[in-house]
Amino acid sequence: MSVLEKTSSESIIALENKYGAHNYHPLPVVLSRGEGVYVWDVDGKKYYDFLSAYSAVNQGHCHPKIVGAMMQQAQTLTLTSRAFFNDQLGPYEQFVTKYFGFDKVLPMNTGAEAVETAIKLCRKWAYEVKGIDEHEAQIIVCENNFHGRTTTIISFSNDENARKNFGPYTAGFIKIAYDDLDALENVLKSTKNIAGFLVEPIQGEAGVYVPSEGYLAKAKALCEKYNALFIADEVQTGIARTGKLLAVHHENVQPDILILGKAISGGVYPVSAVLANDAIMNVIKPGQHGSTFGGNPVAAAVAVAALQVVEDEKLAENATYLGNLFREKLNEFIPTSNVATLVRGKGLLNAIVINDTEESDTAWKICMALRDNGLLAKPTHGNIIRFAPPLVMTEGQLLDCVSIIIKTLKPFEK
Ligand SMILES: Cc1ncc(COP(=O)(O)O)c(C=O)c1O
Repeated sequence: MSVLEKTSSESIIALENKYGAHNYHPLPVVLSRGEGVYVWDVDGKKYYDFLSAYSAVNQGHCHPKIVGAMMQQAQTLTLTSRAFFNDQLGPYEQFVTKYFGFDKVLPMNTGAEAVETAIKLCRKWAYEVKGIDEHEAQIIVCENNFHGRTTTIISFSNDENARKNFGPYTAGFIKIAYDDLDALENVLKSTKNIAGFLVEPIQGEAGVYVPSEGYLAKAKALCEKYNALFIADEVQTGIARTGKLLAVHHENVQPDILILGKAISGGVYPVSAVLANDAIMNVIKPGQHGSTFGGNPVAAAVAVAALQVVEDEKLAENATYLGNLFREKLNEFIPTSNVATLVRGKGLLNAIVINDTEESDTAWKICMALRDNGLLAKPTHGNIIRFAPPLVMTEGQLLDCVSIIIKTLKPFEK
C-alpha cells in the first residue's frame, strides 16, 4: 500500500500495531489535520482537542506565525550542530533568558532531556559550589512525580509500570510526599548532602494535583535556608497553561533551575530548555553536556515565535478566564451527578475525578464517548480525565465543550 493512498482509520491503526513498538495505548482516533483548537480525523470528522498533546499545543494547532517561522528557517539553515555558531541561537538565548528572567539557558530537545540536564547541573553545582563530597549528592523528589522516561528519571518514579524490569536504577534521590513541607524540611535538615529539590508545581500526570496555597513559596524558602536548589519542572505547567507564564508565578517564586519543554515550541518542533543564573549554569564547561540537535536554528526560530504568540495573544489571561469558567460550570453540574465527583486544576490544566476505582476503565469509556461526541481527552488514571485544551480557545467554544462533557457523562450516571 502506498503511503499516499487514502487509508481508513482501521488500516492505519493496524500498521502501528504491527510495525510500531507498543509503548503507548492511544485512543482509537487517527488524526490528519489540526487548526487552532480543532483536529480532524482521516474521515474528515472534526473534534475539539482537549489534551493539546499533553499541553504542548498551548498556542493552538499549526499556529501560522510559528509554522511560518519554522518554514522560513527550514528553507535557510536547519542544523549546524554546536560545533559551529548559528545565527539564530544567540538571539533566541537572549530572548528566552529575558523572557523568563534568568542569566543563561541550556537548550535541549525534549522534556526528559531537560530534566536530565537539570539533574546534572544540580549535582555539579552541589560538588563544585556547595562542596558536597563527590558521589554523595542527593536530590529530593516527590511521590507520584512524572518527569519523563529515561533510566535515571524512572529510577525515582513510583509508577511500577514505568519502572519494572528497567533496573538497575540510578541512585541519589530521596522521595518525600508531595505538598508536605514538614517532610521536605526533615530531609533538608537531616542530611548535609542535599543538592536540590525537584518538583512539579502542579502534578499533571499524577492527575492534576494542585498543592496547598503557599507550598511552592515555602518550599523555595526552605531550599534557600538549607542551601539547596529549587528546581521547577514546568514542562507541563509552563508557558501560560495554568494562567500565569509559569505556575510558580502564582506564588511569586523564581526557581533556581527552571525546566521547560512542550509549549516552548507551540508543539510544532521538539524544543526544551533549562534556565539558571550564572552562579549555577557556569559550572557546565565544554564537553560536559550537549546534544546534536539542541539549540539548532529551526528550534531557536520556532521558540522565539511561539513565546511571542503567548505574549501577543495574552494566552495566560485567557487561560485564567476560561479555566475559572470551566470549573464554575462543572462545579454547577457535579452536585447533580453521581459519576463526576470533583473538578480540580488551575487555568486550563484541569481534571475531573470519576466515581470509580483507579483500576477501573470507566474514564477510558468516557473518553471513547467524548470522542464520539467530538471532543478528545485522555485518562491519566482509570478514574481521572485530564482536560487541557489549547489556550487560544474562545468563551463560546469552551461553553460548547462543557455541554459536550456534561451530555457525555449523563449515560454513565449509575
Ligand atoms: C512535568 C513533566 N516533565 C517532563 C516530561 C517529559 O517530557 P517529554 O515527554 O518531552 O520527554 C513531561 C511529559 O509529560 C512532564 O509532564
